[in-house]
Amino acid sequence: MRVLITGGSSGLGAALARAFSARGDSVLICDLNPPVVGAPSGATSAPEGAGAPSHPFRSFLAPGGPVPSTVAPAPSGSEAAPSAAAPASPADTASPAGDAAPATTAYLHLDVRSEDDWAAALDWVTRNWGGLDVLVNNAGVAGGGRIDVATLEEWEWITQINLFGVVRGTRAFVPMFKAQRSGYIVNTASLAGLVHPAGMGSYNAVKAAVVAFTETTGHELASYGVKASAVCPSYFRTNLVSSMQGADKGLAAIISHLVESSPVSADDIAAAVLAGMERGDEIILPDEAARQAWGLKQSDRAAYDKVMRAQAAKLEALGE
Ligand SMILES: NC(=O)c1ccc[n+]([C@@H]2O[C@H](COP(=O)([O-])OP(=O)(O)OC[C@H]3O[C@@H](n4cnc5c(N)ncnc54)[C@H](O)[C@@H]3O)[C@@H](O)[C@H]2O)c1
Repeated sequence: MRVLITGGSSGLGAALARAFSARGDSVLICDLNPPVVGAPSGATSAPEGAGAPSHPFRSFLAPGGPVPSTVAPAPSGSEAAPSAAAPASPADTASPAGDAAPATTAYLHLDVRSEDDWAAALDWVTRNWGGLDVLVNNAGVAGGGRIDVATLEEWEWITQINLFGVVRGTRAFVPMFKAQRSGYIVNTASLAGLVHPAGMGSYNAVKAAVVAFTETTGHELASYGVKASAVCPSYFRTNLVSSMQGADKGLAAIISHLVESSPVSADDIAAAVLAGMERGDEIILPDEAARQAWGLKQSDRAAYDKVMRAQAAKLEALGE
């Protein structure tokens, strides 16, 4: 198969690139930064002493649970911090990858916010592969913050990347998918697209929009033989927190802790994503914490609300 992955240089995108490559697929990694050859995509094991929460919000909820008071300063500018130190193969060295062609991995610079970059990606895929089997809209950044603390500029920034990045990528490739009457669009949303904890308004909103857009895409393109899945993981270890921006430093510290102390790796999530694609799941819940949280919301709304309100109460302790 021929697979394009945005945000493929780090974290889940890099893990997916490895997983697709390992089964013989050709991969085009599209990212702001080239992948680091041989480098892990994020922390490979939970930090020393990290807990192994069985619930996605356990770190919020555990009495006296660890809540760090500081977070590393956000990088300047509006882009994710570079996660790469060495270039991968230039995109134009990749060879055509029809069914019989040898699998290749290539890198193309792409900012998911840029229409021109998406046009260039479509051109690359057309020239080198003559079509595409899987589009993975995965690139994303971390954000959030309490309603009266997060700024509208932060909302604009996260929306342009986490939502419009998915929309732009889908719009770029849908004409090709329709023409070839096949294709699979996999959008990395988040558990935050299904359950919506306090303090994460902008992140929750854009991820919920990605879930809605993915379902819409699946319905709209089903008659063309095109499928769509939304991936909704809980916290797992990647470099995501390096992209974190925002005025709400207290909330950012909590999110950083939850990502960095997760017992789940990006490779764990990638393997579950491929299994979910095999089944054709419209919503892929790739880890136990995500399945539990979504299951609780569906089966016992009162208990879910109680958990969420308890988490919200903890945010009050952060002060302004
Ligand atoms: N790590 C988690 O706990 C977690 C949980 C749920 C969902 N997610 C989602 O998983 C996806 C992947 O994130 P990750 O955790 O692997 O983080 P990561 O920071 O390790 O990887 C994100 C990649 O996206 C790239 N990127 C950022 N902005 C971009 C842009 N404008 N154009 C192109 N590429 C861009 C980065 O350069 C990076 O390579 C994101 O959509 C994130 O919201 C992560």
